[in-house]
Amino acid sequence: MVFDYIDGAAGQEQGAARNRAALDAISLRPRVLCDVSHRDLSVPLAGVRAAVPFGIAPMGMCNLSAPGADLMLARLAARQNVPLGVSTVASTPMEKMIETAQGNAWFQLYFSGDGTGTFKLVERAKAAGYSTIVLTADVPEVGRRPRELRHGFTMPFRIGARQFVDFACHPAWSLASLWAGKPDMANFRMAGFDFDRTESRARADWATLQKLRDIWPGQLVVKGVLDARDALALKDAGVDAIQVSSHGARQLDSAPPAIDALRDIRQAIGPEFPLYFDSGLRTGEDVLRALALGANFTFFGRLLQFAIAAGGEAGLARMWDVLTQETSIAMAQIGVTRIADIDQAVLSSR
Ligand code: FNR
Repeated sequence: MVFDYIDGAAGQEQGAARNRAALDAISLRPRVLCDVSHRDLSVPLAGVRAAVPFGIAPMGMCNLSAPGADLMLARLAARQNVPLGVSTVASTPMEKMIETAQGNAWFQLYFSGDGTGTFKLVERAKAAGYSTIVLTADVPEVGRRPRELRHGFTMPFRIGARQFVDFACHPAWSLASLWAGKPDMANFRMAGFDFDRTESRARADWATLQKLRDIWPGQLVVKGVLDARDALALKDAGVDAIQVSSHGARQLDSAPPAIDALRDIRQAIGPEFPLYFDSGLRTGEDVLRALALGANFTFFGRLLQFAIAAGGEAGLARMWDVLTQETSIAMAQIGVTRIADIDQAVLSSR
């Protein structure tokens, strides 16, 4: 059940297949004799310098992949000096996450209901020391993901008869999770405010965004954008950056490949506006593909949870190392030594 929650996508999962096919179709041009002996993978990002051009996408209920997964990701962000997306529905309180990540944390916000609870979360994020909010805008309704439905998976997480049988077949996971306690949606526990966790997210509109912009002085990112008209309107509305994403194909099965949307949005919005990218990235070469098509920074989602599920914190560190090496080696192959030099010129026409 947990594997299908993480790996699954919306509908017939065609969107997930299209995301991968579009990335796979991008070739990079190998170059020779460029002296690439000194390569710098760091990039400027929202006023600081990230060590590598990729970070950790916000994911809800990460502790399902292994007890303590949230904090493993936070420690990775601290060690690697990259942003950790802290989901509204994280299994660890946002205050603990930013403290463990030593400030390298961005709070991801879901708007819900009439916004009362949402804006309380914004105040809390400010008090906790967050300087970036990522408003995820592509979940007006949670996508139908057949693999989750088949298992009877729900948020908040419940253990019924069907789940019990599944867990009995996976004793190592079950005992560890039982010992640590059932993962919870920790940010909804707020003194003096009773969150309705079933509130609809469908009421967010441009006035909501304006209100958020008015009260949030830090970096405001809108995540889940695939349409160039929306991107231009967001820029006009004063957001600081846009995260081009199809939510890892978990929302609209017939959405276009996110990487194609990135190309269109970069063309429409011009070279200067910060664009971040996620959805379907699996390797360091994928990162370079996204940078070549106009991303300033990228994020990995599922891959990191798989690393944790397979190998715990050591597995996560190893995966990060592999991604860093893949990125660096591929830079050498295409003859670039700085991330700033990666643009359309590194693409092959075939
Ligand atoms: C997500 N994602 C997500 N996004 C978000 O803004 N808030 C959230 O709470 C979650 N939760 C979540 C849970 C799980 C299990 C997954 C796999 C994903 C989406 C995530 O931020 C990102 O957009 C995708 O995961 C990127 O695609 P890849 O790298 O997983 O293919």
